[in-house]
Amino acid sequence: MTIAERASAELELHGNTQLDMAGEERLYEQLKRFWHPVAFSDDLTDEPLQATLFDTRLAVARLDGEAHVFHDVCRHRGSALSLGRIDGCNLRCSYHGWAYDREGTVVDIPARPELNGKLVAQLPVYPAVEAAGLVWTCLAGGTPLFPPAEFPELEDPEYRIMRFPPYEWNCSLARRLENYFDFSHFAHVHHGILGDRDEAEIADYEVSRHGAELRITAGPFVEYTDNVKNSAVTHAGETYDAWKRYRVYMPNAMKLNSSAGVTEDYVLFVVVAPVSRRQTRCFTFVARNYAHDRDQDFHEMQYVILGQDQPIVESQRPEELPVDLTAEMHVKGADLGTVMYRRWLISIADGDISLAPAG
Ligand code: FES
Ligand SMILES: [Fe+2]
Repeated sequence: MTIAERASAELELHGNTQLDMAGEERLYEQLKRFWHPVAFSDDLTDEPLQATLFDTRLAVARLDGEAHVFHDVCRHRGSALSLGRIDGCNLRCSYHGWAYDREGTVVDIPARPELNGKLVAQLPVYPAVEAAGLVWTCLAGGTPLFPPAEFPELEDPEYRIMRFPPYEWNCSLARRLENYFDFSHFAHVHHGILGDRDEAEIADYEVSRHGAELRITAGPFVEYTDNVKNSAVTHAGETYDAWKRYRVYMPNAMKLNSSAGVTEDYVLFVVVAPVSRRQTRCFTFVARNYAHDRDQDFHEMQYVILGQDQPIVESQRPEELPVDLTAEMHVKGADLGTVMYRRWLISIADGDISLAPAG
């Protein structure tokens, strides 16, 4: 029996029971062991930025061209180093001017220079990598689990790239990400754009695990020319049967390639970061290999879709995604992608961080 068949079979067995609060708590702790985004790479220039991850305030700074992530609390009087300035290859606090090197060691105390090199004060620092147009960090000690998500279209000259300002929603990381591959809401929440409420049935689709990814191929979805993605290649008033290919990079990112025509490829790349248990920061790129002159239209459509989704996702209770699969009702087949995402999260909550075999 395949993983997908097993997941379907289990759905038929379970009814509605209590939420597994302990499971949610375990998941939140385990998520700290993964890479999470704290800034767009292009936003990290000559000033430090502030980010919050797992309720921890961070200062992100580019020193000598490399991204670094520091605890955002000065060892002297606790002010935010993200309000400070970059001074050569050091980060200097704005309050009394203490300077920290890239390892977080205090190297200059302007009020008492004779203490330099003698007063030992160490700021916690966290690993930083740049990948897929983002700066990522990991708050748990040890080697971060799974690589950061991949966004190859970012480097492909055929694609026009749009980057959206990060925004925060009042929901958990998992609720936010799941919303993207929860297909059966398209026809209802995005009626007339991403679907039609009178044609809401979801055809069987494919879900599989590869390495640190969940891959989903689904369709066709009836889409409209109200959707600028399609209006660029379809005549007004026509509908279009779109196919969607998702790569869900566990546990916090997804790339959707959605067809708009035979060769027209629309790409949505989203990475979400846990500000806290119930607040999520979202980093979004849109890429497309056609209609390069229609940025404004694509920009507007993105906000229309987000505006439709936000109240729905923020209204979900409990705010955190139940990792106990019996805590919510599931629709066999239609919910397979989200169920398999949750199953993987359950494994992570239980400390099972194994990669799936490539297949
Ligand atoms: S609080 Fe940072 S130097 Fe005093
Ligand atoms: Fe949506």
